[in-house]
Amino acid sequence: MLRDLSEILLTEEQIQARVQELGTTITQACEDLQTEELTVICVTSGSILFTADLIRQIQLHVRLDCIQVSSYQNKTHAVTEPQILSKLKLDIPGRHVLLVDDILDTGKTLKALMKLLNKENPASLRTCVLLNKQERREVDITADLIGFEIPNEFVVGYGLDFAERYRNLPYIGILKKELQGS
Ligand code: IMP
Ligand code: MG
Repeated sequence: MLRDLSEILLTEEQIQARVQELGTTITQACEDLQTEELTVICVTSGSILFTADLIRQIQLHVRLDCIQVSSYQNKTHAVTEPQILSKLKLDIPGRHVLLVDDILDTGKTLKALMKLLNKENPASLRTCVLLNKQERREVDITADLIGFEIPNEFVVGYGLDFAERYRNLPYIGILKKELQGS
């Protein structure tokens, strides 16, 4: 699978070190909010690996829920507006909520999810993304916490896919142009 990448952008060690820092920052931020519990919403499938590692670095009670969103159909760009495909199981009103996604690209997904969650009146709502592709932003949104800034390239690995492949790579790399197929 390494041969499908033109470059490794972030190694497993770099990712794990940053995830640890993010966990410490989140724990500290919750202490500042005087809460011992955080409700983490993982945007599936892309942020499953990131969320799994991140919550193990948070020194608080963590309630975990997942929400499924889709806008890509085997392409390297969104072909529809983000579709929210599942409902949350956990209650949001009055809770401190952290929304976790793999990558902030056009910003449409995070914006749609923020709107949905804000309607439920959380006590606080913050966002954490592993990657930020600032150049591609189409809507006005920034994440509260960002793991890494990356260039405008299509990346895979550590949860990120192309046509559902490469999610299991422990590192993140740029997919070769000839394999992007669109
Ligand atoms: P946005 O709504 O355009 O911000 O898109 C966010 C979603 O697009 C992410 O959760 C990813 O699933 C997907 N995405 C954006 N850029 C990439 C990429 O470079 N590789 C893989 N998936 C990506
Ligand atoms: Mg995704």
